[in-house]
Amino acid sequence: MALKVPRHSLLLLLAVGAVQAAAASAAVPPPQAQLQVSFYARSCPRAEAIVRRVVRRRAARDRSVLPALIRLHFHDCFVRGCDGSVLIDSTPGHPAEKEAPPNLTLRMLDVVDDAKAAVEEACPGVVSCADIVALAARDAAAMAGRVRYELPTGRRDGTVSSAAEVNLPSPSASFAEALSAFRSIGLGVVDLTTLLGSHTMGFCHCGLIMNRLYNYNSTSPFDPTMDAGLLAVLRRRCPPHVVTPQNQSRDVIVPMNFVAPLGPFGLDNSFYPSVLAGRAVLQIDQELASSGAARRIAAMFASRPGNFRVQFAKSMVKLGGVNVLTGRQGEVRLNCRRFNS
Ligand code: HEM
Repeated sequence: MALKVPRHSLLLLLAVGAVQAAAASAAVPPPQAQLQVSFYARSCPRAEAIVRRVVRRRAARDRSVLPALIRLHFHDCFVRGCDGSVLIDSTPGHPAEKEAPPNLTLRMLDVVDDAKAAVEEACPGVVSCADIVALAARDAAAMAGRVRYELPTGRRDGTVSSAAEVNLPSPSASFAEALSAFRSIGLGVVDLTTLLGSHTMGFCHCGLIMNRLYNYNSTSPFDPTMDAGLLAVLRRRCPPHVVTPQNQSRDVIVPMNFVAPLGPFGLDNSFYPSVLAGRAVLQIDQELASSGAARRIAAMFASRPGNFRVQFAKSMVKLGGVNVLTGRQGEVRLNCRRFNS
């Protein structure tokens, strides 16, 4: 026997169904969603403040945490998107991204652990490691150079991390190679030129520039694009014997920018006059002067520090959106160094 439902009851049922469906969709995130500013406003309102407090406390003891956190975010986002995959520890037979050569010089991963522990205490299982890395980089840029921006959050953590997948551009890449690598993740020449501006901060290992100082591509005894004064200084600081196949000069470092008014841990536009004067330490940085477009952007940033800060913020937000997992994709790791299962 067919059940006869009055028309007004049917409409009511449909309406209730719609409300229930809406409630369900609010409780369970859709498989794919978008990042949004203040994503944790209800689920973990203090998340951003907690991360900032952890970064600030560490920076008060050691300001070198600031460049380290900015670089960590780039290395996370470039491989498989900003999904915290760079944080995963290797397991026997499974070398994780950390083991790949460009990642061996990453520092301060324990700051992410500290921030995660503090956030877990406030709201267990809610805030992803990928978001903590992105927030910590944002805070580092603010503390290092008054670069401030609202950061969309809601990233989920990835469930794959493999050293074999690490395809970060080499420090001796040509401009065209670096740009093509950036384009492959949706960033362009403005982003490349702007984000490399953070190479005004921190240090680099002598092993990465020995070819520029002593045997440039087997064609010249040194890189002819390097300023003679800088060449002399770098040859003194990185003498030929510091790099051996055994040590790869893991412990001998030089500042990335010798003319940095804010010091090695401040973020400003001083990288650009150095590049334009042939005084970049890394080859990839000097390469900016070889491209007309990048040169023009560099000249503009050299004379307009405010423009650099604004664009740096925009490019960091763009970097932070690369191939993110959202909604029900991936997971929210409980320990940033291990997958949940
Ligand atoms: C073509 C792309 C890039 C290459 C080849 C490159 C290469 C390098 C190298 C070789 C170092 C020195 C590492 C060491 O010896 O310890 C370094 C440091 C650094 N990089 Fe990059 N980088 C690139 C892009 C970026 C981007 C996009 C950012 C920021 C979003 C960034 C931020 C930094 C920072 C802040 C440091 C200093 C790190 C520290 O002091 O621990 N880099 N980079």
